[in-house]
Amino acid sequence: MDNQTTYSQEIMDTMEQIKALKEEKNALIMAHYYVPDEVQDIADEIGDSFFLARKATETDADIIVLCGVQFMGESAKILNPNKKVLIPAINADCPMAHMCTVERIEEVRGEYPDAAVVCYVNSTAELKAHSDVCVTSANALNIVQKLPNKDIYFIPDQNLAHYIADQLPDKHFIFNDGFCHVHHSITKSQLEAAKAAKPEALVCVHPECRPEITAMADYVGSTSGIIQFVDGSDAKEFIIATEMGVLHSLKTKHPDKKFYTAGNMQLCPNMKKVSLERVLEALQTEKPEVTLDTEVMDAARMPMERMLELA
Ligand code: 13P
Ligand code: SF4
Repeated sequence: MDNQTTYSQEIMDTMEQIKALKEEKNALIMAHYYVPDEVQDIADEIGDSFFLARKATETDADIIVLCGVQFMGESAKILNPNKKVLIPAINADCPMAHMCTVERIEEVRGEYPDAAVVCYVNSTAELKAHSDVCVTSANALNIVQKLPNKDIYFIPDQNLAHYIADQLPDKHFIFNDGFCHVHHSITKSQLEAAKAAKPEALVCVHPECRPEITAMADYVGSTSGIIQFVDGSDAKEFIIATEMGVLHSLKTKHPDKKFYTAGNMQLCPNMKKVSLERVLEALQTEKPEVTLDTEVMDAARMPMERMLELA
């Protein structure tokens, strides 16, 4: 554990039990930055969606415990079909993952036969299975610009799509109307108020935010990107426009810097369903396990692997 947080004896006991079971079962605990602090602190690997997907392909653990939402567990399983992937909070589902349909993909393919269907990993396995390439917020720009296709149908997130489209004027984007309720809820007036209150602070924004929010940023990037930006900056104050869980790593790494949020709703209720108790129970029972239809899983692997190759 590399932080200064002081936990109660009860929490420490649960952490010890998790550590012992993890060793015994040769399990790897992976966590996204948005899960509760204490879950981040027992993780072997913590990172953004891209880091977690890539790391999942590199482990020789027998069990992967994915502390995040369903699509993250599914991504790990798609890339490691023969491994046991546990997802402690099976009901932690990202609403945005469902904000497109296979019917709509087929409709767009009919209209634009040369289009590449680019699927943000925050999506169901079924949507991935009908896509040409997956991307995360860390590599979307890089990957889309490498694609030979001019027509790009980007699903499900409209905000990430617009952020990339603005930087790739030679491409023709077909947008989808999905969004992340956490990032989409941050408003221009909230960010303006945060900036007025802390005029020295640099503004770090996740590209799932609305275009008027990314336009006000000093830095735009994935959760890991934001942390790296702060690591390399001499500034002392930062306004962070992404889910609040990122503040745990930021404050731990930079006790001398100050961090503020932009809005007051920067909390993902699904990520917060992952608790220490649920991680312990998952290790004890080896459930809930991510299971996917073999055909869907095989079809979803191609766009995921293409992402790993192109990134
Ligand atoms: P990244 O992990 O790519 O920063 O995405 C954030 C997110 O919304 C995950 O749910
Ligand atoms: Fe989904 Fe947004 Fe929560 Fe990420 S932060 S899991 S995109 S709702």
